[in-house]
Amino acid sequence: MAPRSLLDVDDLSPDELVSVLDRAVAFRRDLPPRDLLAGVPVLNLFFEASTRTATSFTIAEQRVGADIITFAPGTSSLGKGETIADTALTLRGIGVRVIVVRHHESGFARRLADVFDGNVVNAGDGTHAHPTQALLDLMTLRQEFGRFDGLRVAIVGDILHSRVARSNIVGMRALGIDVTLVGPATLLPHDFAASGVRVERDFDAVLPHMDAVMMLRIQRERIEVGLLPSLDDYTQRYQLNRARLRSLRSDAVILHPGPYNRGVELTDDVLDDPRSRYVAQVHNGVFVRMAVLDHLVNGVPVPA
Ligand code: NCD
Repeated sequence: MAPRSLLDVDDLSPDELVSVLDRAVAFRRDLPPRDLLAGVPVLNLFFEASTRTATSFTIAEQRVGADIITFAPGTSSLGKGETIADTALTLRGIGVRVIVVRHHESGFARRLADVFDGNVVNAGDGTHAHPTQALLDLMTLRQEFGRFDGLRVAIVGDILHSRVARSNIVGMRALGIDVTLVGPATLLPHDFAASGVRVERDFDAVLPHMDAVMMLRIQRERIEVGLLPSLDDYTQRYQLNRARLRSLRSDAVILHPGPYNRGVELTDDVLDDPRSRYVAQVHNGVFVRMAVLDHLVNGVPVPA
């Protein structure tokens, strides 16, 4: 059997997804034995900037006892004309068994997985997918509400350029969450409705009905000139701020994958609000990544 990879959330069946989340919760309760991935060489290959994801993977790898290799890909031979297949062959020959990869090109993780005889974990590829972020968001929602089915979640902002939104749409739909996307037409084309979610322009009309809202930053680095909306107009219509917090239910929660831009998609009030779950999200991220590594490498069922 070919080694398994996690390129997007739908590489896991809904049952496997829940089993990975159960495993992450078990690890959060009691850290697993440190030898879960003992002696397994894991390479962190981040071609794109990352603070929380790279750190979180490294801590997760340490806690399961992997042998961690991290290098700056600027110095890799991919930049010297070596093909991805040859690089993959070399890395496997040296002994690398798991590659955690982030790349600016959508589909890069799949290209690597196609030629690497080991496990690939996608830590974000272009605007395509970021499955471990979606898993940690799902873990945070389940921690809060104890269920998925019928939960109403709005994802707000620059959906077009967001791999976090795309992976969350896949995962949330698989688990029966009712997803509403909110944003201006330039950052949220109507085609998204084809993925079985609602597309709305009016944040104020949506907000009071939600169990959770996920705010996204505007991904300036991926936006072509002209697409960027006027910031004044954007903040007026889509910023979560003190006034809008009043129409969010008292038992609702606010998520953000980070990095957040204070004064753009949210104000300081949001981060200080007791409904904000940003810290729980990053905390859960470590356990989700431990569970993903364990699932891919060991595949053992979660103990009852
Ligand atoms: C995101 C990413 O890199 O995709 N951050 C993260 O990994 N938590 C979102 C972003 O860059 O806005």
